[in-house]
Amino acid sequence: KHKRRESIFLTMNFAKDYFMRIMQTSDEGKSLGLGYFKNRGFNGDTINKFELGYSLDSWDSLEKEATGKGYTVESLNLAGLQSENDKGRKYDRFRGRVMFPIHDLSGRVIAFGARTLKKDGKPKYLNSPETEIYHKSDALYGIFHSKDALRVKDRCYLVEGYTDVISLHQAGIENVVASSGTALTEGQIKQIKRFTNNVTALFDGDAAGLKAAIRGVDMLLEQGLNVRVVRLPDGEDPDSLCASLGGEKFSEFLKQEETDFILFAARLYNDEAKNDPIKKGEKIREVLMSIVKIPDTIQQEIFLKECAEVFQISVEGLAKSLQEIKQKEI
Ligand code: UTP
Ligand code: MN
Ligand code: MN
Ligand code: MN
Ligand code: MN
Repeated sequence: KHKRRESIFLTMNFAKDYFMRIMQTSDEGKSLGLGYFKNRGFNGDTINKFELGYSLDSWDSLEKEATGKGYTVESLNLAGLQSENDKGRKYDRFRGRVMFPIHDLSGRVIAFGARTLKKDGKPKYLNSPETEIYHKSDALYGIFHSKDALRVKDRCYLVEGYTDVISLHQAGIENVVASSGTALTEGQIKQIKRFTNNVTALFDGDAAGLKAAIRGVDMLLEQGLNVRVVRLPDGEDPDSLCASLGGEKFSEFLKQEETDFILFAARLYNDEAKNDPIKKGEKIREVLMSIVKIPDTIQQEIFLKECAEVFQISVEGLAKSLQEIKQKEI
């Protein structure tokens, strides 16, 4: 069992080196892979630091290279580097895509995210399947490259995507990890908590992104993290905004826009409710449902006071509702 895991790690490391070498030295890799990253504004240091690469548009180039070097087809399969058709025929899983290795806390490659270069290619990102060394729900993109900065800055920026992490690093903001497009799991949050208790989540500006992100925050509150949020302009993600503003202006933007999550939600909901008392009641309850998740009761009280102000109702009324919610939950 242990030996099998070791062989998967070795195979993944080999594949990572191969994808890097292909991108730097082959004609296809240079023009399509390297060209793509340069177009996005990633420089050579960034590409090397994150070990970015390219997979040739071929059914078996990785398999040939790997088996030629003594790796077995079985190890390629265990590593999730092959796919299989209806007839049981195996072929390289990643073809004609730019490759983002996903590292564990100690820097070993445990999976790949692979982006299509086609305009509407589906899926946009093809990821590694679950393997003995890769459990998607535990992996946190960027944790290896960011862990020192998380501790030093005592804050973690939380973004959605691989390229968001990479762009921010290139701009000098190195305390950032990505949820990889889904809500954070308890396992991922525990990893963050090893380094800091302060999280700033960067939200997509659009309504759908906002709603999804707000739901995702409850888990952070439950784990006792202090959560701030920054709402990005509609249509921007951290990568695109950081690239257009430059690192310095982007950092300023973050510092200026950072809002405590509970206050942010209260204001948003209060605006949404307009002056409809029934809607307002519903929205207040939603904010209380978040406040009740916070383990620290002193914190809870501070937020109650602030929310009372936002919603223009008495603290006593809010406190009573909070008690009722707590009672129901027991
Ligand atoms: P986005 O669609 O925002 O992609 O998904 P992106 O990171 O901004 O990438 P670019 O700028 O278009 O190249 C956010 C994250 O969700 C995951 C990936 O981790 C991605 O970085 N995702 C998205 C997938 O795993 N598969 C997909 O098909 C799409
Ligand atoms: Mn598992
Ligand atoms: Mn998005
Ligand atoms: Mn994005
Ligand atoms: Mn993007």
